[in-house]
Amino acid sequence: PQPTPFSVKLPIPPVLNPVRSDTTTDYYEITMKKGRVNILPGLTTEVWGYNGISPGPTIKQRLGRQSVVRFINNSVGVATSVHLHGMASQPQYDGYAEDLTAPGYYKDYVYPNNRAATIWYHDHAIHNTARNVYMGLAGMYIVQDAVELGLPLPKDQYDVPLIIQDKQFTTNGRLVFDDQGEKSQFGDVILVNGAPWPRMEVAARKYRFRVLNGSISRSYKLALSNGSDFTMIGTDAGLMSAPVRVKNFRLGMAERYEFIIDFSKYAIGTRIVLQNLGLPNNDDYDGTEQIMRFDVVAAATDDSSIPSTLRTVESIPESAAVRTREFRYERTNGLWVINGKIWENDRIDANPKVGDVEIWRLYNNAGGWFHPIHLHLVDCQILDRNGKPPFPYERGLKDVFYVGENESVRVIGRYGPNTGKYMSHCHNTVHEDHDMMNQFEVGQGGI
Ligand code: C2O
Ligand code: CU
Repeated sequence: PQPTPFSVKLPIPPVLNPVRSDTTTDYYEITMKKGRVNILPGLTTEVWGYNGISPGPTIKQRLGRQSVVRFINNSVGVATSVHLHGMASQPQYDGYAEDLTAPGYYKDYVYPNNRAATIWYHDHAIHNTARNVYMGLAGMYIVQDAVELGLPLPKDQYDVPLIIQDKQFTTNGRLVFDDQGEKSQFGDVILVNGAPWPRMEVAARKYRFRVLNGSISRSYKLALSNGSDFTMIGTDAGLMSAPVRVKNFRLGMAERYEFIIDFSKYAIGTRIVLQNLGLPNNDDYDGTEQIMRFDVVAAATDDSSIPSTLRTVESIPESAAVRTREFRYERTNGLWVINGKIWENDRIDANPKVGDVEIWRLYNNAGGWFHPIHLHLVDCQILDRNGKPPFPYERGLKDVFYVGENESVRVIGRYGPNTGKYMSHCHNTVHEDHDMMNQFEVGQGGI
C-alpha cells in the first residue's frame, strides 16, 4: 500500500535534553535500539534507531560548549561506530570505521562543538555503514553561535530540519535493504523526517529550512512547483557570507543546505510542492519526483528578515596551497576504488602537516556514477568544477563535494586543527562500504 502523498503531517524529530550539565559540558545519552514505527498506512516497520526512532533525536549545542554523548549499543544486534559528520572531533571520537562498539557496550564520544553548522550523526561501522544508516541510525545535530543567533533569521518553530531519505518496503511494511550487488540502494518511497511525502502547514511568513540528504544512494535536484526561488543561506559547514537566490539545487548524499522560503507572498490555501527534478544515475520511480508539500494555512506577522551579510567566511586563496593531491574515484574489476586502491586501515594516502593548505582534485572519469566525496575533519571550499566556478549555492564551506559524472572538482582547505588519522570516502555508503574509502593523517612527518 503506497501512502497517499501529502496525507501525513511533517514530523519534527524531538530535541534531546542533556542528562546533566556542568560549567563546560553537556552530557547526553542515546541508546541504539530497535523501534517499531508507523510509516506506511496500517503497517508497522522495524527500524534501528537512536533512542529507537528514525531520524534520531536532534542535539542542539552552543559553539564552544563541549558535549559528551554516551552512545549505548543496546538491541540492534550489530557492532556500531558513531560519526558526527561535520564536527572536528579528535580521531578517537570521530567514528573510525573499525572502532566498533559491540552489542551490550557503550562509548562516550567527546565533541568540542567548535563550528556553528547543521551537521549529523550516523553509523559508520566498517562494511556495514549503508545497512545501518538505512535501517535508521541517523540524526541531526545543530551547533549555533552568537553571530547566527544575533541575526534576524527565522527562529524556533520557523527553523525547520528536513531530513530526506528514500526507502523500499515489502508489502507487509518491512524495510528492504538491497544493495544490488554492492552498487546502490534506492527506494521508491520518499521520507522527510521519517514520514512519507509529508505535508507541512505553514503560516504566510518566512521559514528557515535545514535540509539534509540522509539517503544511501539517491541524489536530488530540488525545486519548488511554482517556479519560485530558494534563498540559500548555508552550506554543510554553516552560513555562507551572503544569501543567494537559486531556482534549484543539487543535493548529494550527506550534503546540507540551508534556505529561506518566504510564504508571505502567497494567499491562504496555496500549496507548493517541493519537487525532485531528478539527476542522472538515480533509479527513479513513480513518486520520487516529489518530496513534500507546503500548505499555506494561516496569516502571520513576521519580524524576521534576511540580512544581506550573514557572516565572515574566510576564503583561502589558491596561492596559499603548499601542494595539490589527486584522487580518482572509479569502479574497476567490480570494486569501488580510489586511485585504484581499496580500504586498508594501515595505509595513509595523504599526510599534511598541521596547518598546511592543500588543494585536492577529486575526479570521476566515468559517466555511469556520481560520487559525493566527504572529507572528515576539514571544511573546504570548491575552487572549480571542470574548470568552471562552482554553483552559487556551493560557495560556502563544505565537507561533501558532489563529483558528478565526468566531473573534476578542486577543493581547498587547511588541514587541522587536530592531528591524527581521518577517513575520506564516497558518501554513497554502499560505495564507501565496498571500498571507496581511504584515510589521511594530519601531522607526524608529512608527505
Ligand atoms: Cu557522513 Cu565518513 O561520513
Ligand atoms: Cu560513490
